[in-house]
Amino acid sequence: MSMATTAEVTPPDAGAVEARVRDLLARMTLSEKIGQLSQVNAPWDGEDLPEDFAEAIRRGWIGSVLNAVGVEQVNEMQRIAVEESRLGIPLLVGRDVIHGFRTVFPIPLGQAASWNPELIREGARIAAREAASTGINWTFAPMVDIGRDPRWGRVAECLGEDPLLASRLGAAMVQGFQGDDLRADDAIVACAKHFAGYGASESGKDYAATNIPERELREVHLPPFRAAVDAGCQTLMASFSDLDGIPATANHFLMTTVLRDEWGFDGFVVSDWDSIHQLAIHGLTGSDRESAYEAAMAGVDMEMASRCYIEHLERLVEEERVPLERIDQMVANVLRVKFRAGAFESPYRDSALFPALGNDEHRAAAYESAVQSGVLLKNDHGTAGPTLPLDLDALDRIAVIGPLTDAPGEQLGTWIFDADASISTPPLASLRDACDGRCEIEVVRGLETTRDRRHDAFPAAVAAAQAADVALLFVGEDAILSGEAHCRADISLPGAQEALIEAVAATGTPVVLVIMAGRPLALESVTGFVDAVLYMWHPGCMGGPAIVDLLTGRRNPSGKLPITLPRVTGQIPIYYAHRRTGRPPTPESFVYIDDIPPHAQQLSIGNTSFHLDVWFRPLFSFGHGMSYTDFRYERLRLERDSVEIGQPVRVFVDLVNEGDRPGVEVAQLYLHDQVASVTRPVRELKDFQRVELEPGERRTLEFLLPPEAFAFIGRDMKPRVEPGRFSLWVGRDSDATLRVELELTRETRA
Ligand code: GLC
Repeated sequence: MSMATTAEVTPPDAGAVEARVRDLLARMTLSEKIGQLSQVNAPWDGEDLPEDFAEAIRRGWIGSVLNAVGVEQVNEMQRIAVEESRLGIPLLVGRDVIHGFRTVFPIPLGQAASWNPELIREGARIAAREAASTGINWTFAPMVDIGRDPRWGRVAECLGEDPLLASRLGAAMVQGFQGDDLRADDAIVACAKHFAGYGASESGKDYAATNIPERELREVHLPPFRAAVDAGCQTLMASFSDLDGIPATANHFLMTTVLRDEWGFDGFVVSDWDSIHQLAIHGLTGSDRESAYEAAMAGVDMEMASRCYIEHLERLVEEERVPLERIDQMVANVLRVKFRAGAFESPYRDSALFPALGNDEHRAAAYESAVQSGVLLKNDHGTAGPTLPLDLDALDRIAVIGPLTDAPGEQLGTWIFDADASISTPPLASLRDACDGRCEIEVVRGLETTRDRRHDAFPAAVAAAQAADVALLFVGEDAILSGEAHCRADISLPGAQEALIEAVAATGTPVVLVIMAGRPLALESVTGFVDAVLYMWHPGCMGGPAIVDLLTGRRNPSGKLPITLPRVTGQIPIYYAHRRTGRPPTPESFVYIDDIPPHAQQLSIGNTSFHLDVWFRPLFSFGHGMSYTDFRYERLRLERDSVEIGQPVRVFVDLVNEGDRPGVEVAQLYLHDQVASVTRPVRELKDFQRVELEPGERRTLEFLLPPEAFAFIGRDMKPRVEPGRFSLWVGRDSDATLRVELELTRETRA
């Protein structure tokens, strides 16, 4: 059996697929139809298939399995489904392949810092190839929830705070997973999740309620799902969360009105784990039977893990509470995806026909992803110039300190079921290779884990720093501190890491902070002590080589923040695309708590929108990221300063590399509708370009804004564009100052 790859298969004719769906549906019993709507967690740990599980497959009571790993077991399950069941319908075999399978890439939030769709697509392609070799044909990714609350553990899995960035990167992931043709043996079905609004969980607690006005839902949370659907994503996963009193899993507005009626989606929706059963826990229903009714009638096609459908749908149909036509629609959605995925033609996998898991080529791609995900937040100048990059030939001694110096498992981050920490290279190993014979290294971890609160190893760390030319501190979060259900109420550095940084910085030795974490951290209390900060998220299996190549200048940092970094936890939510309010804060109106006179009584303080105890700006803004070279933006101009509504707008800017080394800049274009029938965010990202320039090179960048770039959701909840004046900025981050104004005029009647 040869492996059919993307290049060799032809996409199925839509008509042929529909004909096959109708034909098969007509031959199915109600029990077999409901079986297709049931996904079961694999019931073994890699040994034999339990007979009751095999029998359920044989009877057509299972349409999909998740967490089955091992191509032998998967092929055996498929064999029973295809050769021993009455209709031979193959299984969808699902797995959370979130940021790699055996070769672990940076967490999605880190990958988003690359602002590079092509890189992300390639990473997903590799993950798909590795997963498919084990029989997996469906991944529960990309997670395209908008994350604006770093307390939420799952912010690690998202693609940041901005709908445009998350849309482009999420679509790229879908294309990477599904390949050019879904029928190829190395393609896997993608699943955009968690539909919708999960990232707005109250106070950053997982599974908490969300209260999202429809306009914010449509402008912020839905666009990345629409982009995934438009990119051909074949499945979506319902969110656990309660959306304004109607949990997403039972939310007809989401699952049918938006997804089917407005977007024309024709794949299928799977519940999240047990989320149909949980409708009773939410208090929306009083039983599994009512939960089955609510979810089925809302538009959730397949049930993951719980058994409400398999145990109650048949009765609900017999009682004519759930129409048979509804069941047929649900089953048709599932069968359509199975036909499109070529599962009937090619249900089995032969691992020998696939590239080896974790091979050098795949790890090289993970390295590139980690390099481009690194964000240089700070790089102060010392007496001899910028702290970074380090010249290893000019240094005699480096102090290497911190709990993440040599933690190959921690740097992989969350959702790494199928990883192998033995192929994960930590910074220390790479630094030793790089320094070999060029300079001395002294290693003092100082803390056992990032949660360690003991100070007893601090003296050794301080002594090492005192004796060194530079101190590299590898700090952040253990992998367990982010991911599902792993939320934090305080997002400062955990354990005694802040104290360790302060103690090392007190030596006066230049300090470079390398942060590995699953979320933005509140770093205001430490960034003042250090000379440089490199933010690596959880960088994956090639974090070590990537970090060292960035620190030493072999690679020039190009990452840009996909999410705002707050100063302190109390600033959350803080994001760049906020609305102005009637009393926006200004430096003049800001009053700091320590500056308030003693015994001040009912003093009018500022009367604008800020906190007394923290500056009103983030620590680092969305889109921020430094380079070892210098880029200058100039000559921002419009093709026309006045454009009719409905016409595209061309924007030009010159970008110059003024430094002495090549570099990549992510040029970002932001827009503000100055006056509109509903208030608009102070800025919105409308386009971006990754540009590589040689030293001294100048290039004119062109941005083409389509008419819909100027649209917003009006008072009637419909998209609209209004005439008026718009501000446009192009620059290196969301604080860009280079600005032009555009007049949008009413369309002249043709
Ligand atoms: C989890 C997650 C979801 C995941 C699913 C299967 O609870 O919410 O993202 O895909 O269950 O593991």
